[in-house]
Amino acid sequence: MTFNRFQEESSSENTPDAIELETIECDLLLEGVHRMYGYDFRNYARPSLVRRIWHHAHAENLSTISQLQDKVLHDRSCFERMVQSLSIPVTEMFRDPELFKTFRREVVPILRTYPYIRIWHAGCSTGEEVYSMAILLHEEGLYDKARIYATDMNDRSLQQAKEGIYGIEKMKLYTKNYLDAGGTQSFSDYYTAKYNSVMFQPYLRKNIIFAEHNLATDRSFNEFNVIFCRNVMIYFNDTLRDQVHGLFYESLSRFGILVLGSKESIHFTRFSDCYEPLDRVEKIYRKIK
Ligand SMILES: C[S@@+](CC[C@H](N)C(=O)[O-])C[C@H]1O[C@@H](n2cnc3c(N)ncnc32)[C@H](O)[C@@H]1O
Repeated sequence: MTFNRFQEESSSENTPDAIELETIECDLLLEGVHRMYGYDFRNYARPSLVRRIWHHAHAENLSTISQLQDKVLHDRSCFERMVQSLSIPVTEMFRDPELFKTFRREVVPILRTYPYIRIWHAGCSTGEEVYSMAILLHEEGLYDKARIYATDMNDRSLQQAKEGIYGIEKMKLYTKNYLDAGGTQSFSDYYTAKYNSVMFQPYLRKNIIFAEHNLATDRSFNEFNVIFCRNVMIYFNDTLRDQVHGLFYESLSRFGILVLGSKESIHFTRFSDCYEPLDRVEKIYRKIK
């Protein structure tokens, strides 16, 4: 199948044969990537995955998915660029402020009763969600007894997360989100600005462990009181979503808390009756069995 850059980034023709060919080419690409590099995109939701594959083929100046397969398998740097294209590292500090406000109100009192708190941010992207949690715990006097595990499959995003350096132009939105999320201090006290960037205070990073972890292929690595996995499973199909919910169920302690993205839900998974909602709207669930 050929790609015409003036058409949409999907199949160039919409005949049944063309769509079938696109499916075959995608299957072969994803199978090859899995076998060669161990990254498993086979159970990502297809329509958006196919769009991003075409986008990447376009960026590499290629006109078929088969050509992309050839290049990806023979050129590791092309594969690494493809991971960046498929990763979608879109995030914000205190994204969905109401969620963080509800977390403060509903979950923090529970966490106060624990001697030690372990939190996992799965699919943390460039770290904004993780620093938001560090600030929240700091303000609630809980940071010193917390360990935050921040993981993603994208090593480039993780590198930025570790550095904690972000564009200064984002601070207006992040300050608003912080205040809407119930922040009690001056947000600018949490970073130092230099030229066009800000760096978050190193003390916020003290108890954060950053590590590469792929939800599609890697196993559980600890037991957690809280798992955040927001705006990640939205890109998975039902099979992978169920598998990852299995991983989270196994990784949560008794009465552990699971926090999902605004468009995600525990319903229609194998685990729906293993949790009760602590807040249905904000997608905060508690493991009950
Ligand atoms: C849209 S961002 C969400 C970031 C953050 N959780 C938020 O809600 O703002 C999705 C992240 O999921 C990561 N991701 C996608 N598939 C993954 C996988 N199989 N394992 C781990 N991380 C994955 C991507 O690399 C990306 O950083």
